[in-house]
Amino acid sequence: MCGIVGYIGVRPAYEILVKGLHRLEYRGYDSAGVALLTDDAKLNVYKTRGKVDDLERFCQSKDIAGSIGIAHTRWATHGEPNDINAHPHFSRSGKIALVHNGTIENYGVLKEALEMNGCTFQSETDTEVLVQLIEYVKETNGCTLVEAVREALKEVVGAYAIAVIDTDEPDTVIGARKSSPLVIGVGEGETFLASDATPIIEYTNKVVYLNDDEIAIIRRGEPLQIITADNRPGQIDIKTLRMSVSQLEKGGYPHFMLKEINEQPSTIHDCIRGRIASRGPEVTLSGVIENKDKFLNAHRIIIVACGTSWHAGLIGKRLIQEIARIPVTVEYASEFRYSNPILDEHDIVIAISQSGETADTLAAIQMARRCGAFVYGVCNVVGSSIARATDSGTYIHVGPEIGVASTKAFTGQVTVLTMLAVAIGSLKGTIDPATQTAVTDALRNLPALIRQTLKLNDKIEKLSSTYTYVHNFLYLGRGYNFPSALEGALKLKEISYIHAEGYPAAEMKHGPIALIDRELPTVVIAPNDEMHEKIISNIQQVKARGGSVIAIVTKGDTSIAEIADHILEIPEVPEVISPIIVSIPLQLLAYHVAIKKGCNVDMPRNLAKSVTVE
Ligand code: AGP
Repeated sequence: MCGIVGYIGVRPAYEILVKGLHRLEYRGYDSAGVALLTDDAKLNVYKTRGKVDDLERFCQSKDIAGSIGIAHTRWATHGEPNDINAHPHFSRSGKIALVHNGTIENYGVLKEALEMNGCTFQSETDTEVLVQLIEYVKETNGCTLVEAVREALKEVVGAYAIAVIDTDEPDTVIGARKSSPLVIGVGEGETFLASDATPIIEYTNKVVYLNDDEIAIIRRGEPLQIITADNRPGQIDIKTLRMSVSQLEKGGYPHFMLKEINEQPSTIHDCIRGRIASRGPEVTLSGVIENKDKFLNAHRIIIVACGTSWHAGLIGKRLIQEIARIPVTVEYASEFRYSNPILDEHDIVIAISQSGETADTLAAIQMARRCGAFVYGVCNVVGSSIARATDSGTYIHVGPEIGVASTKAFTGQVTVLTMLAVAIGSLKGTIDPATQTAVTDALRNLPALIRQTLKLNDKIEKLSSTYTYVHNFLYLGRGYNFPSALEGALKLKEISYIHAEGYPAAEMKHGPIALIDRELPTVVIAPNDEMHEKIISNIQQVKARGGSVIAIVTKGDTSIAEIADHILEIPEVPEVISPIIVSIPLQLLAYHVAIKKGCNVDMPRNLAKSVTVE
């Protein structure tokens, strides 16, 4: 997701725009830019790779006059983060500038049509296609800017929140949205646009939330106008905000971590968008399509990662082995890089990293490439060091993850690994049609399933009071959910500082069961799967020794309700995607216990979001 800001009024726009971008940097920080219309209708566009600070340094010697402008801080989805791909983008004539948050699914088709009509493009972005299309419509139809925007958006498939300015109409800003948020701030003789209210709140608390398919027409000195995509008057519902800036940055949640946990229905939707169609079993991953031979001839796959990403890798191992029938090993990147491994061109190394900057993972894949292996990245940050160091890859597209404890990135990683396993299995013919249909249907339903599972929040919040002052926790799981047990333990220990360990449930009798007593709570992950009977006996072993059990079970499973102390019910899902659903209560439990302990969940002690050192 990106951040956009617009201003029209009586004050210098530049300072308002840049300050607004700083407020929105939590939405993305690959590159930043600003477009200003001077009083004599000259359009100045300044943009640069990097953060907003870099933009300010870039603008120090520039003409930043003007009381109307738009600005953007980018989270790349199409095209590397660089100066050319930075927003604002402008039309061929240089008269129209546009900033955009979202993705245009059919930008390729639109680009080809515009190129056939003589348009040329500077960047790799979908956004430039939109601003060129608006100008094409305006010139072809001889219409106003708002009419051109309205007509152009009829051709667009995808998500957008845009702000547009035009030297031909120097007293106008046009805003429009579909699926991406856009807020209008109504001040005294001045109007603001932004992706959320944080850039607006210090100037006015009167806001209008634009609805999907609505277009805002903001003209200096005139009342706000809103029309719909079919040119009918839109509703102007002015709300008075009572939230602080800090609350607004977190979308009204008290912490980024809780916001990101609750974002997962939409981030998983973004993750699968364009890769799984609205129906049918096909999975389309360009990284697999472009490297078919590598996957068809691979003798084995080695997954390298750290922390939560390593846990995702353990799930990926089971998925790829079971569905694509390729042997997989999972290595801690920090160990792998010094293990002098035997690698050759028949090996594929998959590097998983949210930040794309983890030093151990970067070093591991650089070594793997020197040994001739094909390296495939699963990253979140477009253009990150690891993404650029790999031969190919698949981005998880979950937007910036600010909370140090990884939540939405983990579920995004496992979702991509599931799609990767299916795509390779389909290529190799190792997955039967019925299984592929079941898995892709389940992935398509993930946003709804996660939304349903998030309803456990209040129950878990209450439950967390019982365990605020324990000193140790045990997490048990089997099969696909043994890694879930490891991940649940990591979530708890890294934000609540309570010691927690994850184990394969069957491993208890080989030592850990000696730990069980009344002081040691155990979380048991026990969905309806082939291990269900066995995990019931694991629970009984814990109970027999006086331990308390929090069991995560499939909705309606009464067999465990009679023996566990607390039951958390999740929806019935195929085993292969159960770790994604299971992770939701585990994330919420860690969050609420840590909050009860008064911990700083977004910035836990001793930890950093990206470990760029050994
Ligand atoms: C997870 O909650 C931690 N923040 C940490 O284990 C993290 O997953 C690990 O440092 C790897 O980071 P990466 O995914 O950015 O490479």
